[in-house]
Amino acid sequence: MFSQRSRAATVRGMRMTVIGCGYLGAVHAACMAELGHEVIGIDVDPEKVAALQAARAPFFEPGLPELLERTMATGRLRFTTDMAEAAGSAVHFVCVGTPQKRGEFAADMKYVDSAVDALLEHVGAGELVVGKSTVPVGTAARLAAKVAVREPGAALAWNPEFLREGHAVEDTLTPDRLVYGVEGGAETERGRSAKALLDEVYATPLKRGTPLIVTDYQTAELVKVAANSFLATKISFINAMAELCEKVNADVTQLADAIGHDDRIGRKFLNAGLGFGGGCLPKDIRAFMARAGELGADQTLTFLREVDSINMRRRIRMVDLAREVCDGSLIGKRVAVLGAAFKPLSDDIRDSPALNVAAQIRLQGGDVVLTDPAALDNARKSVPDISFAETVEDTVRGADVVLLLTEWKQYRDLEPAAISGLVKEKRILDGRNALDPARWRAAGWTYRALGRPRA
Ligand code: UDX
Repeated sequence: MFSQRSRAATVRGMRMTVIGCGYLGAVHAACMAELGHEVIGIDVDPEKVAALQAARAPFFEPGLPELLERTMATGRLRFTTDMAEAAGSAVHFVCVGTPQKRGEFAADMKYVDSAVDALLEHVGAGELVVGKSTVPVGTAARLAAKVAVREPGAALAWNPEFLREGHAVEDTLTPDRLVYGVEGGAETERGRSAKALLDEVYATPLKRGTPLIVTDYQTAELVKVAANSFLATKISFINAMAELCEKVNADVTQLADAIGHDDRIGRKFLNAGLGFGGGCLPKDIRAFMARAGELGADQTLTFLREVDSINMRRRIRMVDLAREVCDGSLIGKRVAVLGAAFKPLSDDIRDSPALNVAAQIRLQGGDVVLTDPAALDNARKSVPDISFAETVEDTVRGADVVLLLTEWKQYRDLEPAAISGLVKEKRILDGRNALDPARWRAAGWTYRALGRPRA
């Protein structure tokens, strides 16, 4: 029987494994070490492991390099490709990706399944396997059955992760809530023991009063996709308002401020612009729709199809706007693009609206030059047939139009005077409603944005 008594004894921290060292797992591993635990990060990619083992972050995430340095120096954190090193850990976190399947809406579960299968070779009695990846509802119950067959004395829990890239360290160390999905919603002995182990993992945030919801597997799985669907819906709602604002020359930023003062609505996630991208929101809402279909509830989530469509339309609208200000044709026009990452403080270009717009403009004959403070290397690999520049100055030189597509602080703070003498035409398109139109217009620029008045 699964019970806490039989797990590896720990005095201060626990010994734990983190499988999958991407944006989620690498941060989770370092944060668990920061909380005092002894952590082994495991990944199949030897290059990633070598970087992490040398205390180098394999991707851009504010605060992670310092955290890696600090926690690796304590000797509590190390990384390996060898799954056998998972043996003896009290808790094994599964943090691998669940990307969208090629040509389908559903999530690809092959990484989760192969990680769990490999892990189960080394899991012993009294140990807990904890899923953190975003998965279709029903996955935890399926994996719990696998655990039971392989090691009846072990257990499984689902503990969804809500971290935002760019704020991943603070979101992990000081989460705004913790959710545990355990067997029987902690009504069984096994469920209670799993909860007790997770309470020990998160003793520090729990002591600080972090809200905790203990529930069953399926509710915990749904919490994550429901949260991401709600956030995506909020963004598409304001972007639908932006479409209407464009029709009547109204201002969506003032509209968002005004409705956001109602605290039932709230101002957060009401920034209209190019819409959402990244490795989570787009694929999570699609996988949720696919899963609802499998469950015979396809109508329930048809509104998410509209959320997705509104979001994708914004990218097309941005390209149309660029063509419009370039006198009806992009062919041969020099288009300067500020931003490639799907959002600021990240080098992640997965489903990046900025990069998507840049690629579409290139397809329509535009001569695109792009810059980004963190995502330039990733962008180069993904869209090889556009030009790249290291500085804003080199990007905008000779431009027929400048597009701000990722609202990095340095682009928000850009002074019109700093680039007025470099461009060919003083035209700026603000894809993120991040600039002050009055300042740019006062400096003689044509300023256009999504959902804002023309002049
Ligand atoms: C998201 C969720 O926020 C997080 O809780 C979950 O764990 C993973 O997915 P992330 O993908 O890191 O996190 O980014 P987020 O900050 O949510 O932004 C997603 C996208 O929405 C970005 O492209 C961003 O530019 C866009 N966005 C966000 C808007 O267009 N308008 C807004 O008001 C807010």
